[in-house]
Amino acid sequence: MKRVAILISGGGSNMVALVNSMTGDHQGRAVLVASNDPAASGLVKAQAAGIATAAVDHRAFGKDRAAFEAELLRHIEAAAPDILCLAGFMRVLTPAFVARFEGRMLNIHPSLLPKYPGLHTHQRAIDAGDTQAGCTVHEVTAVLDDGPILGQARVPVLPGDSADDLAARVLVQEHKLYPAVLRRYAAGDRTPVLL
Ligand code: GAR
Repeated sequence: MKRVAILISGGGSNMVALVNSMTGDHQGRAVLVASNDPAASGLVKAQAAGIATAAVDHRAFGKDRAAFEAELLRHIEAAAPDILCLAGFMRVLTPAFVARFEGRMLNIHPSLLPKYPGLHTHQRAIDAGDTQAGCTVHEVTAVLDDGPILGQARVPVLPGDSADDLAARVLVQEHKLYPAVLRRYAAGDRTPVLL
């Protein structure tokens, strides 16, 4: 059995999808949900699902990212995860943190990487006139929104879409893609999932 910790910053809908998927013959089990925002509503959802939670407010550490990460790491290491899933975690992690979990840390990003790393992915896809958008699950490396791609799901960009319209359409696919990738990954299979 693989112990899975999940990092969130907000509503945690991807986290809920992951947690709900880890049943039966799934090789993973959620052991911790941690957030950089104590007010993240996803923490309440994790607690309701019976998962241990931790909150480390990054604002308490000012610009000292290493100190923030040391405190976050303390909670994560206490849960001894085999796999760390970033699920709407909106802090950039230092290379030292990434190195600690390299090869066992996943992220979901709301674009078809390598297109549109960073923020405002949906608006950028619309502005570029793209006819397809989507989401990507990848292994985390020290380069932001880079690393081996483990799965992608595509949706159409429809005429008149706002960024919110597109985000909602992509999010439906995120909730399918991330659990599908984690199921394979926890079983040691890194074959990309294409939805
Ligand atoms: C998701 O769309 C996820 O792909 C995105 O934040 C949202 C979190 O939603 N992640 C990023 O933009 C990471 N750079 P959720 O909290 O409901 O899962």
